[in-house]
Amino acid sequence: MNKLTVVILAAGEGTRMKSFLPKVLHKLNGRPLIRWVLSAVAPLKPGKSYIVVGHDKKQVCSELSKDKVIFVEQKKQLGSGHALKQVERYLKRYKGNILVLCGDVPLIQKQTLSNLVSIHKKQNNAATILSSMIDNPFSYGRIYRLPSGQVRGIIEEKDATDRQREIKEINSGIYCFSSPVIWDALKKIKSDNKKKEYYLTDAISFLSDMGENIGAYPNAKFEEILGINNRADLARAEKIVRGNILKNLMLNGVTIVDPENTYVSSQAKIGTDTVIFPGTVIEGKTSIGKNCRIGPYSYIKDSVLADNVEVVSSYIYSSSISKRVKIGPFSHLRPGTKVKEGAKVGNFSETKNSTIGAGSKVNHLSYIGDSYLGKHVNIGAGTITCNYDGVKKYKTIIGDRSFVGSNVNFVAPVKIGPETLIGAGSTITNNVPKKHMAIARARQVNKVKKKK
Ligand code: UD1
Ligand code: CA
Repeated sequence: MNKLTVVILAAGEGTRMKSFLPKVLHKLNGRPLIRWVLSAVAPLKPGKSYIVVGHDKKQVCSELSKDKVIFVEQKKQLGSGHALKQVERYLKRYKGNILVLCGDVPLIQKQTLSNLVSIHKKQNNAATILSSMIDNPFSYGRIYRLPSGQVRGIIEEKDATDRQREIKEINSGIYCFSSPVIWDALKKIKSDNKKKEYYLTDAISFLSDMGENIGAYPNAKFEEILGINNRADLARAEKIVRGNILKNLMLNGVTIVDPENTYVSSQAKIGTDTVIFPGTVIEGKTSIGKNCRIGPYSYIKDSVLADNVEVVSSYIYSSSISKRVKIGPFSHLRPGTKVKEGAKVGNFSETKNSTIGAGSKVNHLSYIGDSYLGKHVNIGAGTITCNYDGVKKYKTIIGDRSFVGSNVNFVAPVKIGPETLIGAGSTITNNVPKKHMAIARARQVNKVKKKK
């Protein structure tokens, strides 16, 4: 019995979330809850993974459309036992182990799951429950053991007596079952309880009645089995994840000035001696090099920053920033921006789909879109690339060592050669050859003021 199949129960309505989004698609550290569960089981290399869906199944199926999972519909949400039963027709003749998890328990660790499965096999159990000892067991099912210590069943909070409520060993909602015997036990469960639901937890006492071995592995950390039932639980999980990520970064040589006010995605990488100041959010697959200074108040998503970069109070999306670049304060780098070594994008400047060459400066109040700036280009304050005619986008190219005065408009498509000089206030509509100077503005007229 070495085979392993995974079943994730995710059909519950998640009423307590008070949301139009299915519960398992709510995001934790930027990833849907169900993805956390899938990532935890993946290292166990299960043969097949089934996901029981019901409420808003379309959205869940479309989120996971590229994953190797099999969706099974539970038409009516009649309880967790009824949910597992939906998979019976696929696994009736399957001889092996079934790891059952809940889609709303995202922090479970792969090591705990693999320990659970090993113990299940070693003890030759029909069911092994992942349990945990906690001080405040409120709302969880309690593990009921005989005086000998033998597990006899699980009692739900709502159906427990006051005495049973004092039990501190709780059910995580994660189990390893043996097939096919689990299907015999599920046939026996009824909905004669306070919630009028078919409880999966009742299968335990039936298996025990059938003389099967039952075990519980009480070593799950409470954090791992935190179930997300409402948005307060979600915030609690978020805090745990964030704390773990930041601690790990700090232990690996990153300074986080204020961990309470710093948010870093689990997919982000940050190099040694980089300092992250408060109010900074680093999302997605961002990679930040060594010795950078990021923040305060910066937002960086899906971007690559090399070593010795400084970012102050700026937004950076899907961009790539080379060594020794300075960004901000108050810059907005939109997708496709490449800022080369030693360049600077400063106050109130916006860039999009553009390259800013090495040593170039876009220091004040500019918009650079669909442009290529060579090396050591100086862009004067208020310069704008007019890249859009209402229908199409066009390119502006500015050669190396060109000097652009303040408040210039480049009406794209336009090509400016290297070492040019563009007079302040020009609206440039034609190409400028290399080493030329261009001025395109009305001449100033000074007239004597008329007396009134
Ligand atoms: C369940 C357990 C409880 C345990 C707790 C741990 C039962 C009866 N109780 O309670 O012992 O301590 O988890 O978090 O199982 N689901 C369906 N279809 C349904 C009903 C539920 O797929 O018709 C799924 C839910 O999406 C969820 C899981 O089953 O993933 C558990 O259901 P939930 O209603 O959250 O049970 P709890 O009250 O949390
Ligand atoms: Ca739950």
